[in-house]
Amino acid sequence: MSAAAPAPAAASGATTRQAASLALSSVTAGYGELKILVDLSLRVDPGETVGIIGRNGMGKTTLLSTIAGRTRVHAGTVELSGRDITRDSRVARSKAGVGLVPQEREVFPTLTVEENLRVAARDGGWTLDRAYTLFPRLKERRQNLGARLSGGEQQMLSIARALMCDPALLLMDEPSEGLAPVIVDELYAALTRIVAEEGLTLLLVEQNVHRALSFADRAIGLRNGEIAFDGPSRTLLDDETQLDRIMGVRAD
Ligand SMILES: Nc1ncnc2c1ncn2[C@@H]1O[C@H](COP(=O)(O)OP(=O)(O)O)[C@@H](O)[C@H]1O
Ligand SMILES: [Mg+2]
Repeated sequence: MSAAAPAPAAASGATTRQAASLALSSVTAGYGELKILVDLSLRVDPGETVGIIGRNGMGKTTLLSTIAGRTRVHAGTVELSGRDITRDSRVARSKAGVGLVPQEREVFPTLTVEENLRVAARDGGWTLDRAYTLFPRLKERRQNLGARLSGGEQQMLSIARALMCDPALLLMDEPSEGLAPVIVDELYAALTRIVAEEGLTLLLVEQNVHRALSFADRAIGLRNGEIAFDGPSRTLLDDETQLDRIMGVRAD
């Protein structure tokens, strides 16, 4: 498996935190009293890439938010590499290796690209040079304010910010949303490099189902806050009927 290969530390300055495993056990979570995820269990092995699919409102963002510590957990546990983080704050989880690229991107509009990266940096994490090597466009734009970036540049910055913490588990929420196809191709080329070089564990929510299924070997389909499918992406690519059942509409 390519993800298990040692990162080229000398070339990239990698600190290579070990990829994390993730386990959710009977998790019920949501917002205040509102329960969105119900009795949800899943396990992800270190170095796995998992695509999370499902129609709007099915709980994809809530799942990532729950792992990142942004929801209220009513029952169950979340474990990172065997350690119970259910009650940990989002800052503590970030320090423990959970990186989130949120759907809303959350770039600081009044800071420059470089300042956005610097505030995200942590000891032992990525260097600016390393982020700029992955996204040369960010280097070109390093003195520009967050608010002045295109959607694609904001997305690159959002990903680079998460990587500055050297995550062991990276959660990405619809990175291609609202972007032109050529920019999406560029983003996915970078994602492919990240997965190959970092050996991190990746959970990717993607609205473009076919892209998700071709990028990730394993897919999880969410429906009304429950897991409707968990298995090889190939299975869904080969079975439109099953894919329709998860997505509710034809996905092509
Ligand atoms: N901050 C919030 N407060 C209350 N309900 C929310 C909040 N965010 C999402 N929801 C609700 O949770 C459900 C799942 O939403 P979400 O996880 O965003 O779905 P998806 O990412 O799959 O589109 C939806 O019914 C949505 O309205
Ligand atoms: Mg969402």
